[in-house]
Amino acid sequence: MSQDIHDPAFVAALFDRCSTRYRWWSAIASFGFVDRWRRDCVGRLIGQRNIGRIVNGEVGGKPFPAPQIVDLMSGSGEVWPHLLDAMPKARINAIDIAPAMHARAQQRLHGAPGGRISHTRADALDTELQPEYADLVVSTFGLKTLNHDQQQRLAAQIAHVLRPGGAYALIEVSEPRGRLMGPAYRAYLNRILPLIERLFLKGGRDFSMIGTYTHSFGDCTDMAQALREAGLTVSMERHFAGCATSVAGIKPVAKPAAQA
Ligand SMILES: C[S@@+](CC[C@H](N)C(=O)[O-])C[C@H]1O[C@@H](n2cnc3c(N)ncnc32)[C@H](O)[C@@H]1O
Repeated sequence: MSQDIHDPAFVAALFDRCSTRYRWWSAIASFGFVDRWRRDCVGRLIGQRNIGRIVNGEVGGKPFPAPQIVDLMSGSGEVWPHLLDAMPKARINAIDIAPAMHARAQQRLHGAPGGRISHTRADALDTELQPEYADLVVSTFGLKTLNHDQQQRLAAQIAHVLRPGGAYALIEVSEPRGRLMGPAYRAYLNRILPLIERLFLKGGRDFSMIGTYTHSFGDCTDMAQALREAGLTVSMERHFAGCATSVAGIKPVAKPAAQA
């Protein structure tokens, strides 16, 4: 392929074309796992939020009931139901680059609780974000379209926007390493899904890009390193034998300088 598949304009156009069927296709193609993995990601976010409340070995008071969450590469808000189930009073700022995903998200906002969710169309890597205003940062299934440098820029953005003690969790479809699962999953992504798309979506080849992106992404190992280099704590987990991986952690609170 001669085109740069990591070019933000290419990615935005691809998701624009996928937008009407994205939710339906991702649920069917993953046998429902995609939504379970979103829930797992939010579970990790809550776990890290609790770790972020530990100061000097002591857990602080109750978590703030209305946290400010930033949802990066939000699509049309597929993770919001899980965030609001866990934190009904949360406020969410969502960012996505694709105009059609943005339009669909805006439609969903009409049913959203009390104007607490906003959606911005922007490149999550370049947009200027207010420093240290987010209690939590989440991102589900946007990482695979980012190359190594872009993952480093995203890690820097997360470190920039999180307040000290704030937590993040990110999840992405990945290539499992097992001797059985690896080849089987690759065959599914690279052969069976494209065939289904050609047959049922009139020769379409957009959703099939998931195989190309997943192969170039690998798993969350590089992202974990980028987050560490950005000054965040990182723990990585595998989901369903490595068919997805997630990274989660906190922005450590700086220790007060020792008194002279
Ligand atoms: C696979 S969808 C994931 C959507 C949703 N978060 C979910 O859980 O299904 C990936 C989304 O990332 C967005 N995206 C990719 N690169 C981006 C960037 N640099 N800035 C903002 N959004 C981006 C795409 O437009 C797309 O909507």
